Amino acid sequence: MEHLLSLTLYHHHHLLLLVLLLPCLILAHDPPAASCRSMCGSMQVKWPFGTGPGCGSPRFHPYVTCTTTTTISSPSPSSSSSTGRKESTTETLMLTTHTGHYPITSISYDTYTITLTPPAMSTCSSMQPSPSNFGLDWPGPFQPGPSTFILLGCRPPTSSLSAANSSPLCDANSHLCASLCTCPAVVSLGLPILPPTNTCCVYSPANLDDDDELDLKGMKCEGFASVVSLGDYATDPGRWEYGVALKYNGGVLESSVEETKCKSCEMSDGVCGYSTENHNEDINDSFVCVCKSGFNTTTDCQSGNYGQDEDLFWGDDSASFRLSSWKIWHGILAGMIISIAA
Ligand SMILES: *[C@@H]1O[C@H](CO)[C@@H](O)[C@H](O)[C@H]1NC(C)=O
Ligand SMILES: *[C@@H]1O[C@H](CO)[C@@H](O)[C@H](O)[C@H]1NC(C)=O
Repeated sequence: MEHLLSLTLYHHHHLLLLVLLLPCLILAHDPPAASCRSMCGSMQVKWPFGTGPGCGSPRFHPYVTCTTTTTISSPSPSSSSSTGRKESTTETLMLTTHTGHYPITSISYDTYTITLTPPAMSTCSSMQPSPSNFGLDWPGPFQPGPSTFILLGCRPPTSSLSAANSSPLCDANSHLCASLCTCPAVVSLGLPILPPTNTCCVYSPANLDDDDELDLKGMKCEGFASVVSLGDYATDPGRWEYGVALKYNGGVLESSVEETKCKSCEMSDGVCGYSTENHNEDINDSFVCVCKSGFNTTTDCQSGNYGQDEDLFWGDDSASFRLSSWKIWHGILAGMIISIAA
């Protein structure tokens, strides 16, 4: 009998330890980091763009994400130790289409325009053959915007170049070709210095071809440059602004309810996203405001009107959660002590 009692006490002792430790474990548990961020690298990311799944507008998510690249550089190749290695990470907002990944270099939320820097794009200072076409995805929210392609190293004469069964598409006499052909980097495309301008083609498509591509291969061109703006230097290609501009139809197809909700979410320092939970058909793709504290609301981060059970449980005020957990555990603890004493 005495034996049995000591055994029970021994077990209680362990339970007691557990009971004493648990609240500490809970207190040490920080709220989850916000899953949607308002910055990607140095770029501000706002609706309808998002940094990952569940962020921004669901129509943009498969196309635009914030990607992290890790570069490992070892300063001296002779040292085999790993201590000299430096790891650096860079974040880039990236557009992905069926033809590749394109870093987004700027977003104009006022004009619904983004500017890309395709890795294969040539500029006056650096020209290179483009191994693939540039393309957009048909159901995606992007269309060609106010930039001009300059196709380079094409089979002459470019004045007759046309996409399949359509009228000629090149403005071969444009001064853009004459200017760009003065860049010494043309030799990287296998062209002579000051190549004949009839190997160049200026092309401002309202739409891309039937496959939604800039068909460099079909037009037999080596590479391309793309100009967003000439600034004040129409004849100085070294000072032009290069990039591919795209329009996005944000605000047009989005429901205005979501855009209004998003405005107040962003004003309360939240990031707009959508629910990715598929178990309930009603809340698929439904708007959520992701707050800095790591919690989600259906309104904004200040008013704290939580629309989902989950949110109700966690609350925005984690202190009240901690307080209630202390109460619960103290209650159990008290019960334990009483039962041991009895
Ligand atoms: C908040 O919403 C985002 C985007 O849908 C999701 O990734 C995240 O898991 C949610 N967080 C919580 C705590 O529900
Ligand atoms: C919600 O998601 C499920 C599973 O992916 C899908 O079958 C359903 O059509 C979606 N509902 C809405 C309203 O989009």
